[in-house]
Amino acid sequence: MQYPHLFAPGKIGKCSIRNRVVMPPMATNLGSAFGEVTPELLAYYRRRAQGGVGLIIVENAQVDMFQGRSLTAQIAVDSDKFLPGLRALAEVIHAEGAKTFLQIQHGGRQCTPSTTDGLQPVAPSPVPCKFLGVMPRALTKEEIRELVEKFAQAALRARLAGFDGVEVHAAHGYLLNEFLSPYTNKRDDEYGGSFENRLRFLLEILARIKELVGEDFVVGVRLSVEEFVPGGLTLAESQEIARALEASGVDYISASCGIYESVSTIIEPMNFAEGWRAHLARGIKEVVSCPVIAVGVIRHPEVAERILAEGHADFVAIGRGLIADPDWAKKAAWGREREINHCISCNVGCIGELFANGKVRCAVNPWAGRELFFDERARAPERKRVVVVGGGPGGMTAALVAAQRGHEVHLFEKEKALGGQLRFAARAPHKEKLLWFVEYFEEMLPKTGVSVHLGSEATPETVLALKPQAVIVASGGTPVIPEFSSLDPSFACTAWDVLRGSVVLEEKDVVVVGGGVVGCEVALFLAERGNRVTLVEMLSHLAVDAEVITRIELLKALGASSVHVMTSTRCMDVEGRRVVYLCDADPRTSELHPEYIVFAMGTQPNRALFDALSGKVQELFLIGDAREPRKIFHAVYEGALAATQV
Ligand SMILES: Cc1cc2nc3c(=O)[nH]c(=O)nc-3n(C[C@H](O)[C@H](O)[C@H](O)COP(=O)(O)O)c2cc1C
Ligand code: SF4
Repeated sequence: MQYPHLFAPGKIGKCSIRNRVVMPPMATNLGSAFGEVTPELLAYYRRRAQGGVGLIIVENAQVDMFQGRSLTAQIAVDSDKFLPGLRALAEVIHAEGAKTFLQIQHGGRQCTPSTTDGLQPVAPSPVPCKFLGVMPRALTKEEIRELVEKFAQAALRARLAGFDGVEVHAAHGYLLNEFLSPYTNKRDDEYGGSFENRLRFLLEILARIKELVGEDFVVGVRLSVEEFVPGGLTLAESQEIARALEASGVDYISASCGIYESVSTIIEPMNFAEGWRAHLARGIKEVVSCPVIAVGVIRHPEVAERILAEGHADFVAIGRGLIADPDWAKKAAWGREREINHCISCNVGCIGELFANGKVRCAVNPWAGRELFFDERARAPERKRVVVVGGGPGGMTAALVAAQRGHEVHLFEKEKALGGQLRFAARAPHKEKLLWFVEYFEEMLPKTGVSVHLGSEATPETVLALKPQAVIVASGGTPVIPEFSSLDPSFACTAWDVLRGSVVLEEKDVVVVGGGVVGCEVALFLAERGNRVTLVEMLSHLAVDAEVITRIELLKALGASSVHVMTSTRCMDVEGRRVVYLCDADPRTSELHPEYIVFAMGTQPNRALFDALSGKVQELFLIGDAREPRKIFHAVYEGALAATQV
C-alpha cells in the first residue's frame, strides 16, 4: 500500500473508521426550502460515500431554523419532523461502508435578513461582520439557555437518526465561534470577558449533549484555531480551548481556521499552497490526546499521507477535493492517483454558487450536485462516431464523457498540446493549479480510447471526412482587439499573447486596457517582470467578473504590487503608442505614452466551423466560449451536457 497512514483504519471515540480520509462538512444548499433532506442531497452523499472515504461529516444542519440559518436551503435538525430525512441520509452513507457525523450549527451574526426572513441576526454582542455588513443584536441570557437546549436536542436527533456522532460547529465565525473569540464577544456577563466566560456557552452545550446522547455517541468540535483578524483567536489561545474541550469529554477536534472577515483562509482560492495550514492541526494535536482532523487545500494523496506520517494530525479532511472527484479515496487506494480529477481551488462552482444562492456545483466536475439527474456511468444506447473540435476544458470534457458513454471519439486540437486557454491562463500568478485539470485529461483521454489529434486544425472537410454522427464544436474564442484609429501591432498585443509568451515584456512602461480578471492577472504578471504597469478599467471596480473570494485575494495582490490602477477610465483611442483616455470625473481627454499596450478586453466566439457544418451532420453542438465566452465552469458543464445528448 502506497499510503499506509492514509489507509490505516482509525477510531474516533468508540467509532471505528475504515481509513483516515474524512469528508468535512460542506454546505450544499441542496436541502428543501423548509430544511428537509431531498433526493438530490441523498444522491450527492451516496456518490461520495461510494468513493471510499472513511467518514463523512454531513454539512451544517441548522439548530434554529428561524434565527440561525446561513443559507436558504440549509438542512435542519431543530424538529423531529426532520428525522425521516436525516435517517435516510445516514442510511445511504452507511450502506457504502462509511461512517457519518452530523455537523450542527447556528449562523449567529453571519446570517443576513435574507436567510432569516427579515429577523435581525443574533450574536454575543452587537458587533457587525464586516463581510456582510449586518448589525446583529446581543442574545439575552434566556435565549442562550434556550440555545443550549436546541443544540443538545439537535445532537439527540442526530443520534436517533442513526448518525455515529455530531460535530458542534464552533468555527468559521458562526455563533459559537463568536462567543469564544474576544474579537466578537464583548459581553460583560458570565458569557463574556474572561477565557472561562467566553468558553462557558460551548461547554454548557457539550455537557448537555453528553447528558442526552450517552457515552458511545461521538461528540466533536470544529474550531477556527486562528481567526486571522486583529485581536481574534490565535493558535496559542485555541490550544487552551482545545485542552478545555478535551477535559469536557469531546472525542475529536477538527482544526479549521478563519471567519467571514478572513474568508480566504476558510475556503482558499488558488493562491494558497497545498497543505499550508497543517501546522494549525499540529498545534492542537500537541496539546490534546483525542484525534485531530487537519484540513485546507489537501489535494494530492501524497500530501495527505505526509500530513499523517509527520504527525500533524490523525485524520485528513478532503473537502473540495471530494466535490471535484468523489472517487478520490478509491483512486488513491488503488494506485490510480493520476486519474484523480483534482479540485483547482477556483471556488466558482462550489462556494461561488452558494454565495449566489445556487446549489453546490463544480467547475471541473459537471456531475457535482446533479447526481440525481445524470448517471455519469450510464452507457449510450447506440455507439456513434463523435468528433470534438477543440482541446480546451469544454472539448476535453465532451470527449471524455462521450468516450465513457461508449462512443468512438476523435478530438482535434490545433495546438501541439491539450488544454486550450488553460495552458496559458495557468501562467498568471498563482494559477498553476489549472494545469492539474489538463493533466487529468492527458491521463484519461487515452485511457478511455479517445483518438487525440494534436496540432490538427479541424476544417469542415477533415471533420466530414470522418463521417461522424455527432460533432461537438468547442473551438473557443479569440481575444477582442478594439478598432482604434491607428493601432500599431508592433506596440500592442493581447493579454493572451503575454501569458502565452509570444510577446515578452520586461522593464517597460505598459498600459493594460481592461481590468477584468484577465486584465488584473496580466498586470500582475507584467509587474512581476519589472514592467511599470498602468491598468485602465472603465468600470468603477476591478475584477467584477471574479469569484468573490478569489477577487479579495486578487485585489490584495494588486494593492501590494506596483501596478498603477485607473478605474472609471475609458480608453477612447490608441494611435501608435499614444493612449487617449477619458475619466468619469473629468470631461477632457488625457493621454498616456507607454512603450507597450496590452488589451484584456474579453473574447469573441469562434463559431465559423460550427456555421460551416450546420445542416451537414446529424447532431451538431456548439459549446463553451465558442457559443459565448464565459468561465471553465460553463464550458465543462456544456461539454458534459452535449456528450450526454449524443
Ligand atoms: C461549498 C462549501 C461549503 C462549506 N460549508 C461548510 C460547512 O457547512 N461547515 C463547515 O464547517 N465548513 C464548511 N466549508 C469548509 C470546508 O469544510 C473546508 O474546511 C474548506 O473547504 C477547506 O478545505 P478544502 O480545501 O479541502 O476544501 C465549506 C466549504 C465549501 C467549499
Ligand atoms: S468549483 Fe472549483 S473550488 Fe469548487 S470544488 Fe470545483 S474545482 Fe474545487
